[in-house]
Amino acid sequence: MRRSMSAFLCPFALLSLLTLRTFCAGADEADVKIEVVSKPLECAQKSKKGDLMNVHYDGFLLDGTQFFCSRSDKKGHPVWMVVGVGQVIRGLDAGMLDMCVGEKRKITVPPELAFGTNGKGPVPPNATVIFEVEALAVSRGPRSMEAFSDMDQNKDRKLTKDEVKST
Ligand SMILES: *[C@@H]1O[C@H](CO)[C@@H](O)[C@H](O)[C@H]1NC(C)=O
Repeated sequence: MRRSMSAFLCPFALLSLLTLRTFCAGADEADVKIEVVSKPLECAQKSKKGDLMNVHYDGFLLDGTQFFCSRSDKKGHPVWMVVGVGQVIRGLDAGMLDMCVGEKRKITVPPELAFGTNGKGPVPPNATVIFEVEALAVSRGPRSMEAFSDMDQNKDRKLTKDEVKST
């Protein structure tokens, strides 16, 4: 019934609308899948947009290949980052919000919100990626990206412990 109605009304308009949606809408933050692996009983403060987070994270492809491990990168130091401001891929910006200190998550990110049609380094084009993230610390972040880049003394867009301490 509905079908014949719309077919009667304007089949081509409907078709082009659907096509537009498919091509333009792409993926959005709702397509990021978050699974909580473990969560502490106490959770005084959850991460919010703009917070400074200290995390360990491992990146995997769908076939299980590991392409990143913060525990073996840069002498195994956990990574400082500001969440929700475009410092990391969109999927992680969205997937790391509302996280407790001590929480572990598995975050599955479609390519549109990860490394896209080109991929990056070991991540092939159009790859869905999975991150296992452990939040070690959450603190109210620098108020703006300018403040962040002031703190980021060596301008590698990552904050080391020393850079955080010295401000
Ligand atoms: C990746 O996806 C885009 C858009 O769907 C497509 O044009 C491109 O050919 C794909 N690349 C590979 C290597 O599959």
